[in-house]
Amino acid sequence: MKRVALLTGGGDAPGLNGILEATSIALLRENFEVVGIQDGFEGVFQNRTINITRENIRGVHGLAGTFLGTSNKVGTEGREAEFLEKFAKLKVDGLIAAGGDGTFAGLSTFKDKIPLIGVPKTIDNDLSGTEITFGYDTACSVVAESVDALRATADAHRRVIIVETMGRTAGWIALGGGMASYADVILLPETPFDKKALIEYIKSKQSSQRGLMIVVAEGAHAENEEVLVAHRVEGSPQAERYGGIAERLARWIESECGWEARHVVLGHLQRSRTPTTTDRFLTLGMGVAAAKLAMAKQWHRAVVYRDGLIQTAPIEDVMGPARLVDPNHRWVKSVKTLGIFI
Ligand code: F6P
Repeated sequence: MKRVALLTGGGDAPGLNGILEATSIALLRENFEVVGIQDGFEGVFQNRTINITRENIRGVHGLAGTFLGTSNKVGTEGREAEFLEKFAKLKVDGLIAAGGDGTFAGLSTFKDKIPLIGVPKTIDNDLSGTEITFGYDTACSVVAESVDALRATADAHRRVIIVETMGRTAGWIALGGGMASYADVILLPETPFDKKALIEYIKSKQSSQRGLMIVVAEGAHAENEEVLVAHRVEGSPQAERYGGIAERLARWIESECGWEARHVVLGHLQRSRTPTTTDRFLTLGMGVAAAKLAMAKQWHRAVVYRDGLIQTAPIEDVMGPARLVDPNHRWVKSVKTLGIFI
């Protein structure tokens, strides 16, 4: 039997379709059957699959989202026996899963029972074991282009504009997007900001600049203040959804220094853009690497990016704690050199 299942789990990331197309084509060319599991773990529980063919997978790489659908609401906890029983019915040699922390946490309990190959995925770029995740470059492009565009209206009206990005505990998107757009201020979840220092910085720019651009990660917060929770998604592995910091900052800045302020929440636009060329290179290479692992029956491995190369590693490597922005990271040092508040 040469039959492999593919699954995409967790929040979508631009490039998921590139993984699906590259992996599928490489496997189909070697006469594998490729079974696509729909909507992440839901598709296993509800036995919803699709046979992937050269015809139906052709060209999906250019689209955001995922051809298979995904879910970040359904885990396997408490339903392990049911999951195993339903997965066995698929009659596959193994599973290639493109997912994030929730997906791998959900699959980690089946180590000896489900042959698994993992492809780390998140726009947040915070998975352990890899230096970069696909979708991140596209998300940063959305942020950078938005900040550059918004700077025009900020300058026109003499306003502060605060752009809120995704990034719960890791500020990679705010850092990358803020850096690429030369924002004036970048606020990360990893480093709670000093309100006094921030407002002094903003005031120092008030007479010399028409507008001011702030990029803030949704999980960022001031020293001695809590992260703002927008709402909860019950059943989700990480139930709390963060949001609201940009609006709060806008009101606070206006009241502290009288500089008119507006806020923009980029939200799911960061996950919705056609993948950049960089993300396409990455997903083509990672998809091929995942297929090769399956052909060689090298299960319990992950496809990772290290030292400028796509490599493979034990799957446990991508199941570690989130990879956060180090305050001494070279990007942080570079933006500080430019006088950006971070
Ligand atoms: O983990 C990826 C992520 O995009 C986070 O940055 C964000 O907080 C979350 O997903 C949003 O999830 P949802 O799609 O459920 O709103």
